[in-house]
Amino acid sequence: MAKYDLAKKRAIVTGASGGFGREFAERFVKDYGCEVIGIGRNEEKLRALQNALGGNFTYRVFDVGVKENWDNFARELRDTGFIPDILVNNAGFLLPFAKAEKHSPADAEEITAVNYLSSVYSFSALLPLLSRSAAPAIVNVSSSAALAPVAGTALYSASKAALKSFTECLSMDYKGKIYVAGVYPGFTKTDIFRRQNKGADNRLIEKLCAPADKAVKKIVKKLRRRKTRIVTGADAKAMGFFYRLFPSLTAKAIRGVLEKSKMEIFEDVFL
Ligand SMILES: NC(=O)c1ccc[n+]([C@@H]2O[C@H](COP(=O)([O-])OP(=O)(O)OC[C@H]3O[C@@H](n4cnc5c(N)ncnc54)[C@H](OP(=O)(O)O)[C@@H]3O)[C@@H](O)[C@H]2O)c1
Repeated sequence: MAKYDLAKKRAIVTGASGGFGREFAERFVKDYGCEVIGIGRNEEKLRALQNALGGNFTYRVFDVGVKENWDNFARELRDTGFIPDILVNNAGFLLPFAKAEKHSPADAEEITAVNYLSSVYSFSALLPLLSRSAAPAIVNVSSSAALAPVAGTALYSASKAALKSFTECLSMDYKGKIYVAGVYPGFTKTDIFRRQNKGADNRLIEKLCAPADKAVKKIVKKLRRRKTRIVTGADAKAMGFFYRLFPSLTAKAIRGVLEKSKMEIFEDVFL
């Protein structure tokens, strides 16, 4: 299949104020001359990125987990004649690692809205515009937690597994019309651990995590090769590979590794 040519594309990247999203925006603008609209809630960080990247980066401040925000954004794009080529649904968050009982139904609603439903909302609001692009692409950032069960992440994993299934079905529904990719990163050094109650600054976590810039460089390389399933990081690759071969053994092994690590960040899982 022909490569996906990123040059001079118009992209929308959610969660552009930090981590993966910021890296995507930087790579798209700096390496491929793309025009990027970044979305997030932290205006200070988005403004700083705009100052760093110049006129090819603009931003909108809104909560991606609210459908109405996407409808308004789509209306604005239509009125201004902005036809996006690439939609990167990357915004998301992780709850503190803990047994499922420690999280409330309200937590479930929030994480489902942000980590999964946001991609459904953006898809349905932007499809009419994306369909007018000569090379439409949708990139959904899921997680290695959707590849195998990880103790202490029930709500997060469920939201990411929903996104995985949604992405895989979209890829079939629009085969040959829209390039759809699912991204499954392992532990990566970003601000994702900021909601952890304890141990988020643990040096072992620092060591476990791959650098975000390198991870995004690899992802972008695979996007250019039109890969539909992009797994980054040795941990994520091992989880995906072994879970497919030995599901119950692998799930138990992952639990065992986390428990034996004795890391503070996983304490609430094994109490
Ligand atoms: N880092 C990892 O180890 C890892 C592993 C697997 C998957 N992932 C996935 O990678 C994606 C990016 O995360 P990250 O690691 O880069 O974490 P991060 O540094 O915390 O970045 C998350 C981004 O999402 C945005 N965001 C969160 N909630 C939002 C909301 N309701 N509305 C709009 N924007 C929102 C944040 O922006 P504001 O704060 O400005 O709203 C921020 O820009 C997430 O979907 C995450 O699940 C990360």
